[in-house]
Amino acid sequence: MITPQQHADIGKAIDLLKLGSVVGLPTETVYGLAADVYNQNAINKIFETKKRPFFDPLIVHISHISQIKSVVSDFSDLPQFLATRFWPGALTMVLPKSSKISNLVTSGLETVGVRFPKHIIAQKIISGLGAPVAAPSANLFGKTSPTTAEHVRSEFGDKVFVVDGGACEVGLESTVIGFDENYQIVKIHRPGAITEKDLDSALKDFSRKVYVTYEESKVAPGHLKHHYMPTLPLVVLESEKLDIAKIAALLKIEKKSAVELILSQDPVIAARELYSKLRECSEKDVGFIYVQKLKLQQDDLWTAIWDRLNKASSLVL
Ligand code: TXA
Ligand code: MG
Repeated sequence: MITPQQHADIGKAIDLLKLGSVVGLPTETVYGLAADVYNQNAINKIFETKKRPFFDPLIVHISHISQIKSVVSDFSDLPQFLATRFWPGALTMVLPKSSKISNLVTSGLETVGVRFPKHIIAQKIISGLGAPVAAPSANLFGKTSPTTAEHVRSEFGDKVFVVDGGACEVGLESTVIGFDENYQIVKIHRPGAITEKDLDSALKDFSRKVYVTYEESKVAPGHLKHHYMPTLPLVVLESEKLDIAKIAALLKIEKKSAVELILSQDPVIAARELYSKLRECSEKDVGFIYVQKLKLQQDDLWTAIWDRLNKASSLVL
């Protein structure tokens, strides 16, 4: 259900996008900072607003499968099949870019990341604009992604108009996949809510054998080691017990106190709450945040959760 307020805000967001501004929009994964993909000036504003380096490519969001033709130059049988299974949803596919997509969007790569989000407000905004939008997560570069409109406001203040679509259902950025040139391998560049298991099981119905592997993208340095970082240092305890004095010394911080990030045992809920909880922990008057990696929390969706926590961490012990 769209409230009258949201209806009005969607209209305002469309007008702003048409004028070449950036807007905050809700998606089911995280909030995005959107701009008209065909407006170079507006795309530049995304990089400026986020303080994002130009080498990190943007994801292009569509609101109807027919728009794919203007974004990619080749939509092969395998990505087509995956689109029927996972779109709209939390899957970004890296495909050969069309000539209409500028190098600014793709950081000079010949490929483009494309996604059809499920959130009705994102869909309405893109449809109203009549063009796809480029949208990275709506946070300053390297920082924790936003999962509420309030997170976006706290990051950019009055500089960015945000449409409030409630808390994001998934809470983690989309799964980013790429392909080999013969479309026989699906490479997971960034784990997300659509897991290796989900891809494997869908591909059982595909006409050919396809392999699914993990492979961080070498061409897109977006997958930097340090990303998603909260304002307080985060320590992941993989094998060691909590020793506050030792950790404070390793982090070279004065305050010898810490707060624990406690995750739900249910990975769907853990993912949904992750970034909000990280932000809440960051507001505590302590030296650092710690999280304990438990044996039970390893496979499937936990892969994506630990990928983010490891990249957000200052120390893994
Ligand atoms: O769920 C999401 O994907 C969110 C929402 C807003 O849709 N967006 C998001 O965007 O997480 P961003 O910019 O924070 O992350 C996009 C990442 C880039 O850092 C890059 O690593 C990868 O997607 N990517 C984009 N285009 C690519 C390309 N052509 N080749 C390889 N990786 C690419
Ligand atoms: Mg991001």
